[in-house]
Amino acid sequence: MAGFDAIDVIRAKRDGAGLSPEQIRWVIDAYTAGSVPDEQMSALLMAVFFRGMSADELAVWTQAMIDSGERKDLSPLGRPTADKHSTGGVGDKITLPLAPLVAACGVAVPQLSGRGLGHTGGTLDKLEAIPGWRADVHEEAYLAQLREVGAVICAAGNDLAPADKKLYALRDVTGTVESIPLIASSIMSKKIAEGADALVLDVKTGSGAFMKDPAASRELARTMVGLGEAAGVRTVALVTAMDRPLGRAAGNAVEVAESVEVLAGGGPADVVELTLALAREMLAGAGRPDVDPAEALRDGRAMDVWRRMIAAQGGDPDAPLPQPAEKHVVTAPATGTLTRLDAYALGVAAWRLGAGRARKEDPVSAAAGVTWNAGVGQQVTEGQPLLELHTDDPSRIERALDALHGAIGVDTDDVPLPLVLDRITA
Ligand code: URA
Repeated sequence: MAGFDAIDVIRAKRDGAGLSPEQIRWVIDAYTAGSVPDEQMSALLMAVFFRGMSADELAVWTQAMIDSGERKDLSPLGRPTADKHSTGGVGDKITLPLAPLVAACGVAVPQLSGRGLGHTGGTLDKLEAIPGWRADVHEEAYLAQLREVGAVICAAGNDLAPADKKLYALRDVTGTVESIPLIASSIMSKKIAEGADALVLDVKTGSGAFMKDPAASRELARTMVGLGEAAGVRTVALVTAMDRPLGRAAGNAVEVAESVEVLAGGGPADVVELTLALAREMLAGAGRPDVDPAEALRDGRAMDVWRRMIAAQGGDPDAPLPQPAEKHVVTAPATGTLTRLDAYALGVAAWRLGAGRARKEDPVSAAAGVTWNAGVGQQVTEGQPLLELHTDDPSRIERALDALHGAIGVDTDDVPLPLVLDRITA
C-alpha cells in the first residue's frame, strides 16, 4: 500500500479534515506492523478523541482493524449463529446463562470473552472459578464444541483484530478510551471478526457502566449497530440499566452460583428478565423468532447445555465452588424502601476484595465478591443483614467498606432506571 507521512495524517485530523480511506488503512496497518510508533498513534488517537470521525471514516477504520487479523468463517457449522456483547457492568453474569440457553434453542453461540479490568468483572475470570475449567480452546476444538455442544465461551486468540490489542493498550495509557468512535470500532472489530450471523449488544448505562449517561449510551449503541449492519451482521442493541448492579452477586464464584440458579429455573428476576430479552433478540437475529427461550429454561434444556459446555472445557459442573476465608456483613442503615444500591461502589468493593484486577497481569480471587439480599425497590429493616463481603484476605475488608460509603440509600429520592431503556436497530 502506498505510504503516507504519519505527521500529515495527524495534522489533517487535528485540523478537522476528513481522512481518506487510503490514509486510514495505511495508518492502521503501519501501526499494527510497528512502523508507526506509539507516540504518533497517541497523537492521532487524541485528535480523533477531539474531532471524532464521520460514519464513512469509522466504517473504514473498523474494517482496517478487522483486516489486521482473520475474520472467522462459521458457515461449515451449517446452522445459524448469534453472539452477544455487553459493554460491561457490575454483577453482569448474563453471558453465563445466555450462551447455553440460546444454544439449547438451536442457534450456535461463539462467545469470545475477556477478563475483567477495574470495577467490572470479566466472564473468563468468573468461569475460572469452576474447578478444572479452561479458557483457552484451540481452533479445531472450538469448531468441534460449537458443532457438538452449540456454545463456547473462551478467550480470543491473537489472530482476532490484533490492531485492537495494540490500540486498546495505547488508549488505556493516553486518556483516549472514552471516545465513541474509538470504543465502537474496538468492540465491533472484534465482534465482526468472530463471524456470527447476528449480534446483540447490551449497552449499559448508569454509574457502574462505562458510559454513565443514557444519551451517550444510546449514541454508542447507534454507532455500533451501524457498523455491524454495514459489515453484513444483523445487529440490535438494548440499552440497559447499570445504576444498580445486576442480580444479587458481584464477583467470580458468587456469579457462577447465581447463573446456575437461573439455569435451574430460579435466580433473581432482573437476571432472568435480561437473559430472556437478550436471548429473544439473538434468536430473532439468527432467524428463529418463533422459538421461546423461557421454555428451554423451564424444561432443563439450557442446564443440559451448560453442563456439557463446562465439561467440554475441562470443568466439573458438580464440583463445589471456592469459598472465601472471611465474610463480613453490612446491615441496612434504616427502615424503608431501598432506593439506592450504587453499582459503581459495589463494583469497586468487589474489586478491592480481590474479585478484579488493577493491572492485566494481576491474579484474581475466585471466592472474592459481594452478595446482597435485597434489590432496589424492596423494603428493608434497619439492622438487617444487607450485604455480605467475601474475601480470602481480611485486610481488604476495610478498603472495601470505604468504597461503600454513601452507596446504600433508604427512602432517598433516587429514581431507578428501567431495566431495558431502549432498543436500537438500524
Ligand atoms: N471494550 C472494548 O473492547 N473496547 C473499548 O474501547 C471499550 C470497551
